[in-house]
Amino acid sequence: MHWTSRTALYRLRVPILALALALASRATQAQAPSTSSAHDEWWRHAVIYEIYPRSFQDSDGDGIGDIKGITSRLDYLKDLGIDAIWITPMYPSPGVDYGYDISDYTAIDPVYGTLADFDMLVAEAKKRQIRVLMDYVINHTSDQNPWFLESRSSRTNPKRDWYIWRDGKGETETDKRQPPNNWQSWFGGPAWEWDPITRQYYYHYFYVQQPDLNWRNPEVRDAMYGVLDFWMKRGAAGFRIDAVSRLFEDPNLHDDPFLPGRNAYGDRNIQHKYTDDLPEVHDVLKEVRRVVDKYPGDPVLITEADEPNVQALTKMYGDKNDEVQLPMDFQIADVNQLSAPRFRQLFNEIESNSANGQPEYFFSNHDQPRQWDRYGDGEHNDQIAKLMAVLLLATRGTPQMYYGEELGMRTTDPARIEDVHDPIGKRGWPKDKGRDGERTPMQWDGSALTGFTTSAKPWLPVPPSAATYNVESERKDPNSIFNTYKRLLALRKTDPALRDGSQQSINNDDPEVVAFLRREGDRTVLVALNMSGHARTVPFHLQANGVKGTRLTPLLSTPAAGSSSIPLDHVELAPFAALVAAVE
Ligand code: NOJ
Ligand code: MG
Repeated sequence: MHWTSRTALYRLRVPILALALALASRATQAQAPSTSSAHDEWWRHAVIYEIYPRSFQDSDGDGIGDIKGITSRLDYLKDLGIDAIWITPMYPSPGVDYGYDISDYTAIDPVYGTLADFDMLVAEAKKRQIRVLMDYVINHTSDQNPWFLESRSSRTNPKRDWYIWRDGKGETETDKRQPPNNWQSWFGGPAWEWDPITRQYYYHYFYVQQPDLNWRNPEVRDAMYGVLDFWMKRGAAGFRIDAVSRLFEDPNLHDDPFLPGRNAYGDRNIQHKYTDDLPEVHDVLKEVRRVVDKYPGDPVLITEADEPNVQALTKMYGDKNDEVQLPMDFQIADVNQLSAPRFRQLFNEIESNSANGQPEYFFSNHDQPRQWDRYGDGEHNDQIAKLMAVLLLATRGTPQMYYGEELGMRTTDPARIEDVHDPIGKRGWPKDKGRDGERTPMQWDGSALTGFTTSAKPWLPVPPSAATYNVESERKDPNSIFNTYKRLLALRKTDPALRDGSQQSINNDDPEVVAFLRREGDRTVLVALNMSGHARTVPFHLQANGVKGTRLTPLLSTPAAGSSSIPLDHVELAPFAALVAAVE
């Protein structure tokens, strides 16, 4: 199935072995928490919602979503129960990597609107207690960024050393030129690009049009920290930091070790040993934290880094909890199968992380196929989508959702290579069809254009499933995926055990049912998820956990079941059922 290969490519291609404050703008203060306490770690209780701005809501009829579109949908997000939105890049960009190639870090791309539109979004969000998180693309810029244009102009340009320039191997006027070493781009091909202007190679972990910044240069650091100041002063509540583990490369340019086999781009598999997760990453994260911590409102940092194990993930919190508060847990996001033992093990590992850090969970984003198809068995996908909603929203960690997940939006890949937008989809076709499939327009209603745009030609086509899976129709069905999310989000806010409680795994030997307790004071809530396609009757014996009580009062069950109490030692779970119930 295509998702296996894409996940393999994007995520698992290498199983990596291994005061002035008083002067802060009106908008900054606008983001400050309403409580008067010095600290409000709001992100512990927040539900974060990722918006891909191109695809959420178009306001001006050009077929591309925009900032005013997002603002017009804030009531929807409020009603759903969202506390913070992370918006993927909206800065000026040539758009090779759809915004992840930035040509100006302190402006808004005209396709998305203006800085005034952004200010309005922050102000309107604040009225609804919704915080706005920006995407901080730190590893690379666009090759059209004036910094790079300068850097490439001559070997003596003051910005030459802002990027990674190296001589090729064996280059003379007659010899065939070769890149400095065997490093590979994540998106296929060599990570080095020959630049004829100054006859050197530059390094790019991602697309050729995304040259890597040289984070060993203090001027680069200053410039990039200035970007944080700019958005904090405009009211950002924090940042999701892009591709952070790729910030540094081995200065001695050792070759990376090859692994068996080839990837969808036809390259030899390689372990990014000398280009990923170098220890210097943590110095930068500490500095980034110090910059944002100058601002009120307890700004949050979230990292994108697909760490290979809990030890590496734990390091992201910082040895003194002085790095990021919410490192995304890619291990859990990449389980890719309904495996009770695997989920249990990974939840237990991160729950007991030695930094006592807050976990951050998600199952879908703009880089990987959507969870509806990834976890669905082809027959019970809607029920499984509800099960996954419970898994995400009943746990202790901070949950992150992806737009449309609450509807059961599915991955809809382009049918023909000519229709592909994402360049990796062209390069990897048909093994890797790129990431367009998970970036299709938000499904607001059952009309032909789903209420996303008035343009006859949205930038990506509307998936056929939008006719039935959309906000308007799912609102009317009490058992829809949408209403399951909505109820869970409300429950998470109002039930003290689900909001603040600890998380303890129970029935640890069950091969099919993931079960855990959420406990706060005297209140215990039990969560049970049947990850199998057959009915199960499960006994729970909680004396050993020090829990008194013999019965369960359901708070939410899917498929819908009665609200009458259930004996703890005889809990019936339908195929792929999920139960959230108070122990009494
Ligand atoms: C991770 C982003 O999520 C992805 O969309 C992008 O292509 C790469 N980083 C490069 O910026
Ligand atoms: Mg538009």
